[in-house]
Formats: sequence, structure tokens, C-alpha cells
Amino acid sequence: MCVISLCTRGALHTTARRRSTAALGDDVHVRHKLHNCLLRPWRAGDEASLTTHANSRDIWLNLRDQFPHPYTPEDAEAWVKFASSQAQPTSLAIEVDSEAVGGISLKLHDDVERVSAEIGYWLGQRFWSRGIMTAAVRAVTEYGFEQFSLTRVYALPFVTNVASHRVLEKAGYAREGLLRRSAIKDGIVLDQVVFAITDHDLVRVSVA
Ligand SMILES: CC(C)(COP(=O)(O)OP(=O)(O)OC[C@H]1O[C@@H](n2cnc3c(N)ncnc32)[C@H](O)[C@@H]1OP(=O)(O)O)[C@@H](O)C(=O)NCCC(=O)NCCS
Repeated sequence: MCVISLCTRGALHTTARRRSTAALGDDVHVRHKLHNCLLRPWRAGDEASLTTHANSRDIWLNLRDQFPHPYTPEDAEAWVKFASSQAQPTSLAIEVDSEAVGGISLKLHDDVERVSAEIGYWLGQRFWSRGIMTAAVRAVTEYGFEQFSLTRVYALPFVTNVASHRVLEKAGYAREGLLRRSAIKDGIVLDQVVFAITDHDLVRVSVA
């Protein structure tokens, strides 16, 4: 069970206050019962821990091929350079014990789909099954609705990625359907499951 607070340096109690501070790119905190986790922008100095934790075939197998494997120091350098330059971050590092051990991103869409974003995430294996990603997905979903005027956030885990399905269910996402034989990973054609949450779902949760 996680205790989550989406806040910037101390408790914030109003949505208006959250909007104004998060827009400045301040750190977003996720407090976990067992560990103090922090969601914050990527920054120079994260490269070594990023290389260590991202360099995993088990992580890569569940992500798009654009996530490198093996994950080299050069890959980490390029990622940190890109992500740390975002004026309003859509990619955040997950920090545990002062190390960046995972990442979570919103891919914003454009044109008529500019109200939608895809959420993607990974976590170093040492930290799996502690509730960390469920807390992070909840926090970043809220951040996305508030900061980018989104009406929908969705994810497309492979049908085989049961842990990610569980994360999304626990974070309030609904299973909407199956994109049959829509992806190929490591030479195997896979179905992808559509999970999504809308701004209306959030309103229902908050008045319930
Ligand atoms: C998926 C991932 C992000 C989960 O992170 P996490 O911090 O371990 O997730 P949480 O601890 O919040 O929740 C995991 C849930 O999945 C469950 N789970 C884990 N492995 C499972 C499996 N093989 N089958 C069924 N459930 C499983 C856990 O028991 C937990 O559910 P519970 O709280 O009901 O017990 C992590 O495993 C990861 O980085 N995987 C590789 C990258 C990836 O898959 N990214 C998502 C792409 S869509």
C-alpha cells in the first residue's frame, strides 16, 4: 500500500497551487510506505545509475525497440542530455536512495489527438514489486491531466506483460481492448492491450 503525494517540496493542498508550482518544473514527490521515492526531472549526473539499471534484457523485452539494449553509457548520456533539456518535463526520473533507478514518460500527441498522451515506464529490477510504479503512474497521470490539459492517458503493454497490466489497473486505468498482432518484439508477433484513463474517470474517483 502506498501513500502518494504529488507535491513540490512539502505538502500542497490545492489544485491551483499544484498547477502553479509544477509548471515551474519543480520536483514531484512520491512517498512510499517503505522507501522514499522521488519523481524528478532527469539531470546531469544520472548517467551512471541509468546505465546500471536500464541495462536489462528483461526490461527491454517489455519496451519498444527504441529503448536500447545493451544500454551503454553513450545511450545514457544521450538520454539525459535530451530529457534534461525539456522546459516542461514529460520524462521524469524515478529516484530511490538518491539514485535514478527508473523512468516514466508521457508522449504527448498532436493535431486532433493533442488531448491524448501515451504513458510509458520502466524500473530497475531490484526495485520491482514494491508498489513503486503504481505510485509513479498515479502521480504522473495526475500531472499530465493538470499540466497538459489532457482528456486521456493510455498505455499499450504487450499482452504478456501481466505486471504492467496490474500496475495500470491499480492506478485506475480501464482495459479497453486488444490490438491484435499489432507489434513485434524479439522476433515474436504480439497483441497489445489498450489501457486508458480519462479526465471524466478522475472526476468520478474524486467525488466517490
Ligand atoms: C512493469 C513494471 C514497471 C512494474 O513495476 P513495479 O514497481 O514492480 O510495479 P508495482 O509493484 O507497483 O505492481 C506490480 C504488480 O504486478 C504484480 N506482478 C508482478 N509480476 C507479475 C506476474 N508475472 N504475473 C502477475 N502479476 C505480477 C505484482 O504482484 C504487483 O501486483 P499486486 O500489488 O497486486 O501484488 C516493472 O516490472 C518493469 O519495469 N518492467 C519492465 C518494463 C515494463 O514492462 N514497462 C511497462 C511497459 S507497458
